[in-house]
Amino acid sequence: MVADAWEALRRSLVYFRGQPVGTIAAVDHASEEVLNYDQVFVRDFVPSALAFLMNGEPEIVKNFLLKTLHLQGWEKRIDRFKLGEGAMPASFKVLHDPVRKTDTLIADFGESAIGRVAPVDSGFWWIILLRAYTKSTGDHSLAETPECQKGMRLILTLCLSEGFDTFPTLLCADGCSMIDRRMGIYGYPIEIQALFFMALRCALGMLKHDAEGKECIERIVKRLHAFSYHMRSYFWLDFQQLNDIYRYKTEEYSHTAVNKFNVIPDSIPEWVFDFMPTRGGYFIGNVSPARMDFRWFCLGNCVAILSSLATHEQSMAIMDLIEARWEELVGEMPLKISYPAIEGHEWRIVTGCDPKNTRWSYHNGGSWPVLLWLLTAACIKTGRPQIARRAIDLAETRLLKDSWPEYYDGKLGRYIGKQARKYQTWSIAGYLVAKMLLEDPSHLGMISLEEDRQLKPVMKRSSSWTC
Ligand code: GLC
Repeated sequence: MVADAWEALRRSLVYFRGQPVGTIAAVDHASEEVLNYDQVFVRDFVPSALAFLMNGEPEIVKNFLLKTLHLQGWEKRIDRFKLGEGAMPASFKVLHDPVRKTDTLIADFGESAIGRVAPVDSGFWWIILLRAYTKSTGDHSLAETPECQKGMRLILTLCLSEGFDTFPTLLCADGCSMIDRRMGIYGYPIEIQALFFMALRCALGMLKHDAEGKECIERIVKRLHAFSYHMRSYFWLDFQQLNDIYRYKTEEYSHTAVNKFNVIPDSIPEWVFDFMPTRGGYFIGNVSPARMDFRWFCLGNCVAILSSLATHEQSMAIMDLIEARWEELVGEMPLKISYPAIEGHEWRIVTGCDPKNTRWSYHNGGSWPVLLWLLTAACIKTGRPQIARRAIDLAETRLLKDSWPEYYDGKLGRYIGKQARKYQTWSIAGYLVAKMLLEDPSHLGMISLEEDRQLKPVMKRSSSWTC
């Protein structure tokens, strides 16, 4: 199966003027509509890149980093509006002209994307990948080039600028990440917050202490402090915290308020009371005034563990939750992108009646094999590889036989997704990375950051996840 996966991964390679620069999202010749699955997506390339790095083939990763950096320098417009300089593309495509024998690039910064959303995650993944490349090869010269330094600063300038924000978290539009269509994640989605935190910490280790770098570094350090405090206090949910929210008073004024965001206990959904185990916890989907999205999102929680946004105790609690709620979060095919699905009237309002996001399908509680690499990495980091082994065993019963689907549908993830592509590259690469991580856990260093002792954990309501 591993050999088959490698072959399929190599078939997805995309070349620009003779050099490999990325992997195409899906090599599915049977599918009638190509849409943009014939492009190199930044987020989709991450597991491919990690697979190549782990296999001792860093060249393609370097080429990719430089190509996308070059695209960042383009002038980006949507109608008559100019996008921020630091924005990175969601995807790009190489156009081959067989007559003139030339290769040209086109890129999508959101101006062609369904829904016209800019990918907030792309820049963060780019920084995270630059660190992975540096860690894995020991070659610091790429990250130290003036181009890469500037690229990082531009990405971060977009996020560190001052505005009307009252929170250190990053305000986002719906559809700005892996979940790239309306799914009720607007506001402060956990996926973006976790990636933001990780990118900040990666950049901190790579930015030079020269005049421009120094200013950026100072801003990062300040933000990280405020950010980790905010996330660890307000996004964290465990049994104790849920009980506290359940008993919240509302309409409290002034800084002594306990219920700072004025969350009305009646807005807590029924399912979460049963879902919450006595032991365990997780970072919820979103927190903003009078709104807590209690849904579980896999990517954000795994990245929180890898980046050490989660304290040691919180990381353990997340793993406890996955074990305790295995049927809901893993089921028959790893892993649920989010839990639970939105249905009925709520689905109509939240998704805008999106037929691709019906309950337990696609982004609405669908199961995505690509998430296997993130789970495996989180398992290794927390010293619980047996959980990853169990998930990989499940994936191995079907993935190859089903031709590497993009996602599975159903409450248990038993059915190949309604509109899922076959030979989806990140399903293939995600499997390979999971396998290689388990075989050689020393690879973990590429995509994991140790706890920063200066970012002191908030010690409160900890009893439910330490006992
Ligand atoms: C879908 C996914 C998105 C992915 C893209 C390419 O649009 O939602 O996350 O990047 O396909 O595979």
